[in-house]
Amino acid sequence: MDRNCDNPSRSIQKPPYNSINQSFITPLGKLYLRGPVSPDQFTDWRLSSGLNCFRPAASQHRALIELAAEPDGLLFTATLANTVISYASFQKPDFPWWEKRCFPELIELGGIETDPGWRKMGVIKALLNAIFKNPGFTYFDDFIIIAIHTIHSWDIRTSNIAPWAYRRLMIDIFSKYGFETWETDDPEIREHPCNILLARPGKNICRKMIKHFEGCCMGTI
Ligand SMILES: CC(C)(COP(=O)(O)OP(=O)(O)OC[C@H]1O[C@@H](n2cnc3c(N)ncnc32)[C@H](O)[C@@H]1OP(=O)(O)O)[C@@H](O)C(=O)NCCC(=O)NCCS
Repeated sequence: MDRNCDNPSRSIQKPPYNSINQSFITPLGKLYLRGPVSPDQFTDWRLSSGLNCFRPAASQHRALIELAAEPDGLLFTATLANTVISYASFQKPDFPWWEKRCFPELIELGGIETDPGWRKMGVIKALLNAIFKNPGFTYFDDFIIIAIHTIHSWDIRTSNIAPWAYRRLMIDIFSKYGFETWETDDPEIREHPCNILLARPGKNICRKMIKHFEGCCMGTI
């Protein structure tokens, strides 16, 4: 279906808060998977102190509250009572290459993170399943999602995973949700051979828009 190309001027709105609202059982307790979460709801929660891969947890909490308040910012969480254990965040791309080439249907998966004490229990998988493999939540079918992976954004220091293995892990995690590696001339990605651009064209994205996206990737647009 070429819906997006047939109706290019339609406005894109956020899905209702907590369109996703499920639970997930882990050996450490029952988590609630929710999203997109409102900035107020997120402010009331505590961010687990181990969620400090991108910046210290307190600053990350503030940054994610701001992101959730942005017109295009979407935050999905796994919580234990009032504590956020894991999250996935989406926003308009803020890398210089993509800021210049942004179009309404382009969105970036900015980050996924699980508290180290809860890793390898299937938490991020459960959250990504709720976002991408959920017949009741089809919002991202209308978007091309990019995920920009650079060695600087990985938890190489504490995870003990070597860069090439980390790259493989990212490809493995994301490929289950329709993300594929895309060629790009983005200098930030070309800076290191481990860096990758992953992208997931939603199923309502037409061929013309994919062509446009290819041009953006290679800098011809
Ligand atoms: C990457 C990360 C989010 C995974 O979260 P998680 O909740 O532990 O992941 P899950 O337990 O749901 O595992 C998802 C899949 O990855 C695999 N996996 C997760 N961590 C792994 C590891 N250290 N080594 C090998 N495989 C691993 C799991 O086996 C699972 O594979 P499967 O689908 O085939 O069963 C977590 O390690 C993290 O927060 N890392 C730091 C932040 C980061 O690097 N984010 C990615 C860049 S934005």
